[in-house]
Amino acid sequence: MGELVTKRLVVRDWDLGDAEAALAVYGAEDVAQWLTPETHVVRDAQAMRSVLHAWIEAQPNLVAPAGRWAIVRREDGLLVGGLSLRLLPPYEEDFELSWQIRPDQWGRGYATEASHAVMRWAFDQGIEELFAVARPDNTRAIGAARRLGMEWVGETTKYYDQLLQVFRIRPAELKRV
Ligand SMILES: CC(C)(COP(=O)(O)OP(=O)(O)OC[C@H]1O[C@@H](n2cnc3c(N)ncnc32)[C@H](O)[C@@H]1OP(=O)(O)O)[C@@H](O)C(=O)NCCC(=O)NCCS
Repeated sequence: MGELVTKRLVVRDWDLGDAEAALAVYGAEDVAQWLTPETHVVRDAQAMRSVLHAWIEAQPNLVAPAGRWAIVRREDGLLVGGLSLRLLPPYEEDFELSWQIRPDQWGRGYATEASHAVMRWAFDQGIEELFAVARPDNTRAIGAARRLGMEWVGETTKYYDQLLQVFRIRPAELKRV
């Protein structure tokens, strides 16, 4: 996608040099506890480097518009989080948007600002709908989905073998943030 620039943020590809900064996101228990079972808690910078290495290697082979990106604050270059677009298992038909923000940067609208730009970009690639899934007690994630103009479409256990709330958005529903 190159870089997506918003008012306060840049969404860009991951770089191995992001390992220390990314650890503040993926190494935080407050973030890791909500992620899907296949995403493990990252214990140290070396483990984070391995994770980033795998993401960077995988990126060119993903079905567009799938990918994983870093969210960086323009003002000071702080890496505030990451987001991804993935095909949801097991059917791999639905694209899931997911966000992770370092806990000390929650409550500033960064997840919605970055996601909005990524959703717009994904819809420009011809995708007709995007989904977000959240555990029922993940109120912050559910809040972010709603702020993005996503519609609640139900509960399911089909994706990751756990009960998840499902949200969906289509191009016509994309709101300006
Ligand atoms: C889910 C998660 C990304 C949400 O982070 P967040 O910062 O609450 O999300 P948003 O970007 O929507 O920010 C909204 C908050 O910022 C506030 N805000 C401040 N400035 C804002 C602005 N300019 N624009 C929008 N919101 C703004 C809103 O009022 C809202 O605050 P509130 O939660 O107190 O009501 C974060 O909690 C997280 O990383 N959780 C762990 C991982 C996870 O669960 N991911 C989702 C499932 S994969």
